[in-house]
Amino acid sequence: MNKNVENIIVGTLGWVDKRFPLTANIKAHLTEYYAPKNFNFWYFFGSLAMLVLVLQIVTGIFLTMHYKPDAELAFGSVEYIMRDVSWGWLIRYMHSTGASMFFVVVYLHMFRGLIYGSYRAPRELIWLFGVGIFLVLMGEAFFGYLLPWGQMSYWGAQVIINLFTTIPFIGPDVSEWLRGDYVVSDATLNRFFAFHVIALPLVLLGLVVAHLIALHEVGSNNPDGIEIKEKKDPKTHIPLDGIPFHPYYTVKDIVGVSVFLIVFSAIVFFAPEMGGYFLEANNFIPADPLQTPAHIAPVWYFTPYYSILRAVPPVFNSQFPGVAAMGLSVMIFALLPWLDRSPVKSIRYRGALYKRWLALFVVSFVVLGYLGTKPSNVWGVFDAGTFLVGGSDRATVVARIFTLTYFLFFILMPWYTKKDKTKPVPERVTA
Ligand code: HEM
Repeated sequence: MNKNVENIIVGTLGWVDKRFPLTANIKAHLTEYYAPKNFNFWYFFGSLAMLVLVLQIVTGIFLTMHYKPDAELAFGSVEYIMRDVSWGWLIRYMHSTGASMFFVVVYLHMFRGLIYGSYRAPRELIWLFGVGIFLVLMGEAFFGYLLPWGQMSYWGAQVIINLFTTIPFIGPDVSEWLRGDYVVSDATLNRFFAFHVIALPLVLLGLVVAHLIALHEVGSNNPDGIEIKEKKDPKTHIPLDGIPFHPYYTVKDIVGVSVFLIVFSAIVFFAPEMGGYFLEANNFIPADPLQTPAHIAPVWYFTPYYSILRAVPPVFNSQFPGVAAMGLSVMIFALLPWLDRSPVKSIRYRGALYKRWLALFVVSFVVLGYLGTKPSNVWGVFDAGTFLVGGSDRATVVARIFTLTYFLFFILMPWYTKKDKTKPVPERVTA
């Protein structure tokens, strides 16, 4: 490099460093941040989640420039984006595909936590911030789904807000307060828009920053579940099994990003509706408060919880137990760090008991997810504004069994993780 140019760069950096800890931060979080050397492909999904978050924010900003949060204009403004705005179709499909891909990536990221015990001490707070992120992400997806003001937007919001009416004593007031009206209306659309474009994204960003600060405080777990900080070079104090995040994992993450973008582009360009799983056919019909669609189902990423809601039978004519079970099925993830009593973290050194329970949990989640997409007439009766769960047909019975196994995975965890026959964990990571 030309000597003069080098002097200018070094001088500018020195000027900045005296006023802002730029070099110190690059060192602490990239070039001198030591991550375990045995990361595998499961470790792609954290950086991919960050990528999708940025994609959603950027495409969301451009959508907001043309979208109209008004019950009279919303549906038309989305059609306008799709047909008349230059590249509008691309921005909209990127955003709708991004929503589903966010859940794909986050589910795989959470599953990695389950197989390697990443939620265990000292990473409980990373996990709890993660559960917070997951809840906010669900809210973000729910609020966003109302905005195109199609039939599914309208009736989906109607069903979910009506769930709150089942809460004893305060329920009806709570749902009216959420809606801002007696029915889903323009007032509801306006507040959902505010939550979707500013309130929840801010909370989400704050939680992701907290998630990463907590991660860099304790350091990453790895596929062996060994704490690399416990074996350091006596002279340099660098973990013996650690490698600098940059360049090693920045380069590795670029590979993950490339593969992800190929899959993402294939969906955006060739199958943006994904057979009705990413964009539902009914949502291309404008919202009609007088016409309830025959089959109301949430988008795929909510269907496991929707199945749990429908599987729990009413008690004294109240649907509240189903609603409570649905809430609990998400919140229960927060207890994992304290339910797991195994002496080892990673699935590599766990015994058959844990592996079988984890497999059963995955099967339960997938089967519930599948059943959640099935029409409610297979299950029970749906009526405008109210809903009835608990038929006696086969789908209901299967959903009840898998709801039970879903919860037993958590409830019995202290017992089977303690009883499990674990293997000895090696001293150093097995690269
Ligand atoms: C917007 C969503 C999220 C983003 C951007 C994000 C980002 C990240 C990143 C960059 C890492 C480090 C790289 C890696 O280990 O893959 C990480 C680690 C981790 N995340 Fe997330 N995350 C998100 C959601 C979640 C959720 C929903 C959970 C769990 C409920 C979670 C739990 C964890 C755990 C336990 C680790 C440490 C893993 C280990 O060291 O083995 N994250 N996250």
